[in-house]
Amino acid sequence: MHHDGHFLGIASTPAGEIDRLLARAEQHACAPSGTHTLEGRTVCNLFLEDSTRTRTSFTAAARGLGAEVLDFNASASSLSKGESLVDTVETIAATGADCIVLRHRGSGAPAHIAARLPIPVVNAGDGAHAHPTQALLDALVMRRRLGTIAGKTVAIVGDILHSRVARSLCRIVQQQGGDVRFVGPRAFVPSSLATAFGVELHHDLRAGLDGADVAYALRIQTERQGRATYMTGSAYARSFGLNTANAEALRGCALIMHPGPFNRGVEIDSATVADERTAIIDQVAAGVHARMAVLERALTAGPWEGARS
Ligand code: NCD
Repeated sequence: MHHDGHFLGIASTPAGEIDRLLARAEQHACAPSGTHTLEGRTVCNLFLEDSTRTRTSFTAAARGLGAEVLDFNASASSLSKGESLVDTVETIAATGADCIVLRHRGSGAPAHIAARLPIPVVNAGDGAHAHPTQALLDALVMRRRLGTIAGKTVAIVGDILHSRVARSLCRIVQQQGGDVRFVGPRAFVPSSLATAFGVELHHDLRAGLDGADVAYALRIQTERQGRATYMTGSAYARSFGLNTANAEALRGCALIMHPGPFNRGVEIDSATVADERTAIIDQVAAGVHARMAVLERALTAGPWEGARS
């Protein structure tokens, strides 16, 4: 059903709306005690795939706005008895939830639900398709650390094929006027994907990071790799790890990011995590502010009109 509050992807949200969300998230960052704009409302977290930081972040965001949070446990639910996702979500909506935050391993699941429900649906990650609140928080961190995204080059390094984070990040960087490169081994970055996203493709870390402002490492998504075609952790670290041995390749980058959870010593090593250019903890903090803005947009039309530019 049409609802203005759905937040399903970056590409499906007008650029002006993204700008407003970023502006509102910045307001929340400056007023960390929270404004109780969602007092009396109920947000339902429906996470049908493992998650710690995203789920915790949505909960913190909802509580920071004064909302109640219903945490739906998939394994204890009727879904394990064969109930369809639509029926389950309809039941949850009938118990009084005002908004559903959905993580699902199927690409397109949030859009499928959104088309059938009278309440707003927020995509908290669907398959390898999209993770739009991650993209918002990443954009916030880039703007804070670099001043702007326009004119900057973001090199996304690693398992792009299986990454919803990469897809949403690519869209928000392009929407904000920046350039994206995909960097990784051939098995992780097919050229058709780079073509579809209109980005440069590199299979060599040094060339991929040359002239880039941001090095954004992705987790190797072992759980999504049907066939064991990927490299071992140590071979990957040697060629594509953001680490001390590859420090020269990283020299020109002003900002180093990773969505978490990271495999220490594979995608990034301890020394690089501790580097002052690395913003992994800032990303987690910005996640709460980004999700506050998204939940407010989902549940209210009015109170954050001040964020309009
Ligand atoms: C990501 C996810 O689940 O898509 N994690 C996150 O939301 N912070 C990335 C990942 O799992 O690699």
